[in-house]
Amino acid sequence: MLDIYTLGEDVLREECKDVKVFDSALKMLADAMLETLDEADGVGLAGPQVGVSDRIFVVHIPDQDPIVFVNPEIIRTSIETSPYEEGCLSIPGVYFNVIRPSAVTIQAQDVNGKPFTIEADGLLARVIQHENDHLHGKLYIDHLDQRDREKALKEYERKSRRQHGRRRG
Ligand code: NI
Repeated sequence: MLDIYTLGEDVLREECKDVKVFDSALKMLADAMLETLDEADGVGLAGPQVGVSDRIFVVHIPDQDPIVFVNPEIIRTSIETSPYEEGCLSIPGVYFNVIRPSAVTIQAQDVNGKPFTIEADGLLARVIQHENDHLHGKLYIDHLDQRDREKALKEYERKSRRQHGRRRG
């Protein structure tokens, strides 16, 4: 299980680098990320969230096969948008409505470097866009208007203080 970095850590705000070597270390990273994701009961986890500034994220939606995306590129987004209450393992306990395109087409490589394309809608499209943002140092709260963003940050501060108190106590 890998440590999950949370809001305030610089690595969450960096632009990630392309993955150039598809070796056993990359496979181990992808496996560890999927394990960490399942353990944390999340649906998506990106490199920066485990302190790795590389263009990789993993998605595991309940009752679907897990998918590893390396060097992903969203090549098409729908004009139609939809709202969805998003959360993030790096901003635990905070959920806000984010409006995004309802469907996307994404190109990526698998853990062996083999290219693939997925046309996604519904939850998969949502998670792909959220995780892809992480690779550009972007968080879902950046999509909120100023009022909601401030609310989210306050809520996060309140929750993380309480969490710390609980851990110490
Ligand atoms: Ni996230």
